[in-house]
Amino acid sequence: MSKPHRIRPIEPAHIAALIELGRETNLSPWAAHDYLSELKDKNSIMLRLETDENRTIGFIVGRLITCADAVAVDAEIYNIAVSPEHQQEGNGQMLFDEFLRHCRERDVRRIWLEVRVSNEQAIAFYVRNSFAVQQLRKDLYRAPAEDGFLMSRTL
Ligand SMILES: CC(C)(COP(=O)(O)OP(=O)(O)OC[C@H]1O[C@@H](n2cnc3c(N)ncnc32)[C@H](O)[C@@H]1OP(=O)(O)O)[C@@H](O)C(=O)NCCC(=O)NCCS
Repeated sequence: MSKPHRIRPIEPAHIAALIELGRETNLSPWAAHDYLSELKDKNSIMLRLETDENRTIGFIVGRLITCADAVAVDAEIYNIAVSPEHQQEGNGQMLFDEFLRHCRERDVRRIWLEVRVSNEQAIAFYVRNSFAVQQLRKDLYRAPAEDGFLMSRTL
């Protein structure tokens, strides 16, 4: 039986694999410098899922955001992806649960994200994880142009 996958922090050496995964899963493209600047931010939460052969098969990138009252903390998810051949096996859930654990440790009050309205697979995943649509954002995306949903859940 194969060993379970492990969650590890993202480091600069993994960025090429993240860009490739993003391409395979049609994520809005992030360049290497986007990941690098996120890595320098102490409020970032950047996790990868690796096989027992150290191959990256999924990742989640988000950040803690201090709210206007300077006390409450929210979080945003910018990217989550699992390589197509490893989807529908609980890997996205594993990444999200670990992200949630980091959020709980930091007393996060609410998590936000945006998603293309046509991305039924991701929307179903978020709804199963207690997210609800808060707003329709017209023409949020480019290439191809599309509306987006702003979704959130409380903790
Ligand atoms: C959204 C995404 C990250 C979910 O990842 P995933 O690994 O497929 O998610 P999971 O396997 O944890 O859950 C997906 C389904 O598999 C099912 N599942 C969970 N564990 C399972 C297992 N061990 N065996 C079989 N199925 C399982 C879940 O019940 C769930 O079913 P449902 O959504 O039909 O109710 C993935 O679809 C993805 O990478 N999409 C492309 C990138 C993307 O669009 N990202 C979001 C941008 S906003």
